[in-house]
Amino acid sequence: MAEQATAQIGVTGLAVMGRNLARNLARNGFAVAVHNRSPERTRRLVAEHGDEGTFVPSESLADFVGSLERPRAVIVMVKAGAPTDAVIDELVPLLEEGDIIVDCGNAHFADTRRREEALRAYGLHFVGTGVSGGEEGALLGPSIMPGGSAESYRKLGPIFEKIAAHVDGEPCCRHIGPDGAGHFVKMVHNGIEYADMQLIAEAYDLLRAGLSASPAEIAEIFREWNGGELGSFLIEITADVLGHTDAATGQAFVDVVLDQAEQKGTGRWTVQSALDLGIPITGIAEATFARSLSGHADQREAARRVFGDAGEKWQVDDRETFVEDVRRALLASKIVAYAQGFDHIRAGSREYDWGIDLGGTATIWRGGCIIRAGFLDRIREAYDAEPELSTLLVAPWFAERVSNGVSAWRRVVADAARAGVPAPAFGSSLAYFDGLRAQRLPAALIQGLRDDFGAHTYHRVDRDGSFHTLWAGDRSEVEA
Ligand code: 6PG
Repeated sequence: MAEQATAQIGVTGLAVMGRNLARNLARNGFAVAVHNRSPERTRRLVAEHGDEGTFVPSESLADFVGSLERPRAVIVMVKAGAPTDAVIDELVPLLEEGDIIVDCGNAHFADTRRREEALRAYGLHFVGTGVSGGEEGALLGPSIMPGGSAESYRKLGPIFEKIAAHVDGEPCCRHIGPDGAGHFVKMVHNGIEYADMQLIAEAYDLLRAGLSASPAEIAEIFREWNGGELGSFLIEITADVLGHTDAATGQAFVDVVLDQAEQKGTGRWTVQSALDLGIPITGIAEATFARSLSGHADQREAARRVFGDAGEKWQVDDRETFVEDVRRALLASKIVAYAQGFDHIRAGSREYDWGIDLGGTATIWRGGCIIRAGFLDRIREAYDAEPELSTLLVAPWFAERVSNGVSAWRRVVADAARAGVPAPAFGSSLAYFDGLRAQRLPAALIQGLRDDFGAHTYHRVDRDGSFHTLWAGDRSEVEA
């Protein structure tokens, strides 16, 4: 056993994310206990970075726990699923009442709820924490979304707020809410990330087809956009990726990458959860399905053989107007994606009684995370001004962008359809907007059909109550 408890917080699981989080903690002046199943990683961390701060290495889990001040705070940074459960099972007998286990992986919020409840029975705190920003963020300042008890945040808050990214002096970390709230919000963050990336990819594809431009030329367009309302980390790195040349072939890098997008599952979880909650996150769903479609190489090949390549010859006449149209369509579609994501968080918060502050969530996404973007400040302002805002689309700053962009949006979606360039997320975002603003929706006909074949009843616009028409009889209406 370690001779005395000297570490303020511990990290077990020292693959790249765990290692970088541990280094970030040490660099910020915290004494960090470090442990990894195979001790080689622990030794390497201390050998390579021991001079960055105070690391307290242990080779056994018991020594690791023994090296921590009470209440102990142990960050688990292992693969989501069974490996996380295995580490928790090993830790529990070594911990005492009031100690805290923090899961910083991308766990499903339902697993986090289950684990939190199970550990609460032992008097332990389980804190599912979303961490965004990739490897670099973990080291230099991520966005941190901790769930779990308010009591655990009293210990963790000052530590996490110090190591998180900061924007305008504010840390990109705050207590999201109890049990699975942190992992839920991180899940939706990733869903928005999927939508954002798909929209960017569609914009690139449209620019490439319409302008017959090279990836390097399109990189310049994105670089310019990054200086304006679209300014964000993802737009910035799009310019980098599009501008990159493959060393082996001399071709544009994007042309030598297989066009099949993968996923680890957080986008899929977001869509599944939204279906359960009845929230139409159509942009995120389209983005997730677009990745799936790209992976069905056999079907794509079969369709290409029968129908030929989708692309018709397409050359826009006014290049400048077209680029501006795509920019406006991208901004409007992106606003839809964020509006839907925040609707989803609100619904999850109500369902699970988490009390999530939407403006606060936007605040901690302004820095460190993958979807960090200039307009998160506007989202924060919108929810701070009106916490019960029905949809972000109607908040003044966003409503103005959508109104100004709507004709461009329609032109781009129509041009894409005419040219046979797939733009599912652009198209579905526009349809969502039109759906919301429609005076009457054909949902009325759906209700009629349901009543006809299944006597499922309907409501009327002019009277209260439920009604059924005797379709197979004299077609009179009865109150149901
Ligand atoms: C982040 C990222 C991170 C990871 C994604 C990738 O916020 O730092 O979202 O969590 O890069 O999970 O997800 P896919 O592999 O599913 O695209």
